[in-house]
Amino acid sequence: MRLDKYLADMGAGTRSEIKKMIRDRRVTVNGNPALKADMKVFPEDLVKLDDEVITYSEYEYYLLYKPSGYYSTVDYSPNVTELLVNARKDVMPVGRLDKDTEGLILLTNDGTLAHRLLSPKNHVEKTYYAKTEPDIPEDAAEKFAEPMRFEDFTSLPAKFERISSDEGYLTVHEGKYHQVKRMFHAVGADVIHLKRTRFGFLTLGDLEPGQYRTLQEEEIAKLKELSGTKENR
Ligand code: URA
Repeated sequence: MRLDKYLADMGAGTRSEIKKMIRDRRVTVNGNPALKADMKVFPEDLVKLDDEVITYSEYEYYLLYKPSGYYSTVDYSPNVTELLVNARKDVMPVGRLDKDTEGLILLTNDGTLAHRLLSPKNHVEKTYYAKTEPDIPEDAAEKFAEPMRFEDFTSLPAKFERISSDEGYLTVHEGKYHQVKRMFHAVGADVIHLKRTRFGFLTLGDLEPGQYRTLQEEEIAKLKELSGTKENR
């Protein structure tokens, strides 16, 4: 692979910034200053920028605590990818959260996995904390547990765990547009605060809004298992 592509993929800068870095002798390959942007590098080569080792990773996987106020589409700003430091530029959010929704969102450039995690066939469970106005009716749990019919989909039975008169956790299997807000609205309570706390087996843990971590190998393997992604694609 060309050195400038290697560095650009790893988020070191734009192609023209990288060319300048190379001209300024800031990039070394196996200890020698790189002289040309188009020089070829191989997996066993040691590439450094200002003494920082730049390891090439084809796929990257992040778990981010999306703060409210950020878009989960890259077409608008501020968006969740802007919170990642040094991530590959092709890392994208897996699915959407509304701008005013906070909580767990995965980001990756592994398009196959992202696609499968979002596939309705896979029914990956997602749990949301919701605060509503007015209160959540007494019979909400029974209503959520039945299929609810909307214009564009019918929900699979969802599990509701009440916290208080106006707060609870709802676990759904789909990821339809405004799904949770629409489900609460349908039982007579409007969501005023929404936070995704769980995606499959993944939770936010100790992360604060705006913080993220990379997924561990076992977690990636488990996600692939959950989504039916085969290793040899
Ligand atoms: N359901 C919603 O209504 N909004 C979200 O952001 C996610 C699920």
